[in-house]
Amino acid sequence: MNEYDTELVRSILDKAGYAFIGNELEADIVMLNTCAIREHAHRKVYGRVHEIHHKRQGKPVKIGILGCMATNLRTDLLENKSLKIDFIAGPDSYKRLPQLIAESYGEGEKPFDLTLSEFETYSDIFPSQNSGGNSHSRNVNAWIAVMRGCNNFCTFCVVPYTRGRERSRSVENVVDEVRRLADNGFKQVTLLGQNVNSYRHEKSDFAALLEAVSRVDGIERIRFTSPHPKDFPNPLLEVVANNPKVCKHIHLPLQSGNDAVLDRMNRTYTQAEFLALVDKARKLSPKIVLSTDIIVGFSGETDTEFEDTVKVMQDVEFDSAFIFKYSEREGTIAQRKFPDDVPDAIKTERIVRLNELQREITLKKNRAHINEIHALLIENDGKDSTLGRTDGNKLVLIPKNGHKSGEFVPVRITDAGPHNLKGTPLSNN
Ligand code: 5AD
Ligand code: SF4
Repeated sequence: MNEYDTELVRSILDKAGYAFIGNELEADIVMLNTCAIREHAHRKVYGRVHEIHHKRQGKPVKIGILGCMATNLRTDLLENKSLKIDFIAGPDSYKRLPQLIAESYGEGEKPFDLTLSEFETYSDIFPSQNSGGNSHSRNVNAWIAVMRGCNNFCTFCVVPYTRGRERSRSVENVVDEVRRLADNGFKQVTLLGQNVNSYRHEKSDFAALLEAVSRVDGIERIRFTSPHPKDFPNPLLEVVANNPKVCKHIHLPLQSGNDAVLDRMNRTYTQAEFLALVDKARKLSPKIVLSTDIIVGFSGETDTEFEDTVKVMQDVEFDSAFIFKYSEREGTIAQRKFPDDVPDAIKTERIVRLNELQREITLKKNRAHINEIHALLIENDGKDSTLGRTDGNKLVLIPKNGHKSGEFVPVRITDAGPHNLKGTPLSNN
């Protein structure tokens, strides 16, 4: 979402007459788009601000802080005198950037806008990256934020505070953008949202949006991220199963396999409900690829509670998993209600164990594809080999043979490791 937002900002500033220079030593204005979701982003950002000033050796520059961290560290950013920044804009304030930048050249206080909006969806801005054409790996997939914000308030998560309430773009508006993307040569779109499957605009839900987008000629693959397990009604699972353009891959964040932990996290489902959802998805689409997010060491997580996560991961066998150590975030419910009391050494032990387990499962799942035939969408014609992706989102390397990004190539899978698969194009066999 942040990468997408950066392109929105580029587009807004383009229109305001600014030229983009990808070089922090030359530019008059440098903006850092920040994320506050996990690590201590502020340390990195403060480090970068000092580094930029140091490298510029006194050459004047305006530095702006954008994104979630801006909302999250408002007071610190505004009052910290040792931090030499010039303007601040939260995720709903990018249209005001030209004004904030102009004000930063004046005499007054540091300009900032951290207002969170109930309406802003940037539906009238076409992100600059989506014009396509210029970069080989970029004109294949386009991102489209179809909804913004989150109303779920998982207790560990800062997103509802930094990005505000859920709001969705209209189906027509999204379809218009998808049409434009197809005209610009994109073959795949990824629908984005903090909670993408709670998309709703008037009478249309997320299943209806997927169906509408799939009717756009030229777009061959549709992906979406990130959904919440609570919003998978049958009609949505059926669209994923039956619509040939909707990729057979669901990212299904589990977070924890233990009911008490899930309850403390306010995830609103139980282990049994999650497992039932996985069963239903697999019944409807037997080959569906599943990935997940896991947090280890959430407040009060005991050894027994953690073992439930291990068990669910063994039972479900996700194709891949992003596993994180819990990190307490400023302003969240967990910060107020539950102490971050699992020692870091235990968090490390747990993350290492889950990563090892997942590595074996991923390898096994990847190896099960050997000898299968898959259509690859080529993303990158690299120096020594060409990289493409299966419908199920697995990366496949094929020998370099003139295939261009954006092309579909049928391949037979010949080998598999934990990170990618290898294949040979059928026409070469
Ligand atoms: N600590 C660790 N991981 C977190 N995530 C969100 N908030 C936190 C936190 N405070 C993870 C969740 C989410 C993913 C995007 O980031 O697993 O699904
Ligand atoms: Fe955060 Fe939960 Fe919303 Fe995802 S669903 S953004 S984890 S609050």
